Amino acid sequence: MAMLIDGKAISAQIKDELKEEAAHLAAEGRHVCLAVIQVGSDPASSIYVGNKKKACDYVGIESESYELEEHTSEQELLSLIDRLNGDDKVDGILVQLPLPGHIDEDSVIRAIHPDKDVDGFHPESAGRLCIGEKGFVPCTPAGIIQLLKRSGIEIEGKECVVVGRSNIVGKPMALLLLRENGTVTVAHSRTRDLREVTKRADILVAAVGKPKFITAEYIKEGAVVIDVGIHRNEDNKLCGDVDFDDVKEKAAAITPVPGGVGPMTIAMLMSNCVEAARK
Ligand code: GUN
Repeated sequence: MAMLIDGKAISAQIKDELKEEAAHLAAEGRHVCLAVIQVGSDPASSIYVGNKKKACDYVGIESESYELEEHTSEQELLSLIDRLNGDDKVDGILVQLPLPGHIDEDSVIRAIHPDKDVDGFHPESAGRLCIGEKGFVPCTPAGIIQLLKRSGIEIEGKECVVVGRSNIVGKPMALLLLRENGTVTVAHSRTRDLREVTKRADILVAAVGKPKFITAEYIKEGAVVIDVGIHRNEDNKLCGDVDFDDVKEKAAAITPVPGGVGPMTIAMLMSNCVEAARK
């Protein structure tokens, strides 16, 4: 049976470290503050935003909530971001995605000042990551690197395969694994013979977006399998992009869903907020 990579425990450890750092900053008069903006009331987004605010409370980060109505115009949202960009008290700005269809997400992401871009989605943050400069890194891939490091899994020299090429997960994941000296392949929906590619992986990151897509025949014996997906199956239970029960005997280590990558995303958001305040 594969070793379980416990994202819940590792994220708790990171949040405890950040709690101390936030307390030190507060003692110096710098109270870490995150502005959280939600447009509309998508139930999944409300849960994510609620979890982020709870984590802020735990770490000792002040969270300012902006709950805007579904029909809020793009201009109103951009004006709010502009005001928060200029507010010295606010260290980080998070706009929960997805946004309603009448608002252009790219314009909103670009409007956030790069120094407050705790999601790491701004093109300046993406560019910095690409050329190896310091900057904010998207939370999910940053959390996966922490999961690997804190579980004692070496990345250097390993065959790393990322399935998925989104701006939020796949692309930054590939760049971070490369930064850690992994040998990186990015596979995606147009990859020919995906199984041949994923079977090369010592470290496989599945960000496919399809429930239980990665079965045992997609992995090499002894691989480390990181599951980014989160879905609800027929009986309303959570599952990932990986068929956990099928893969668990063949993998050396695997992240569960829930309790793997998910909690790490929030821990790294907290980390980015503390970093923003320290600057
Ligand atoms: N929606 C789904 N994931 C994310 C995330 O990491 N950040 C934001 N802002 N919205 C999301």
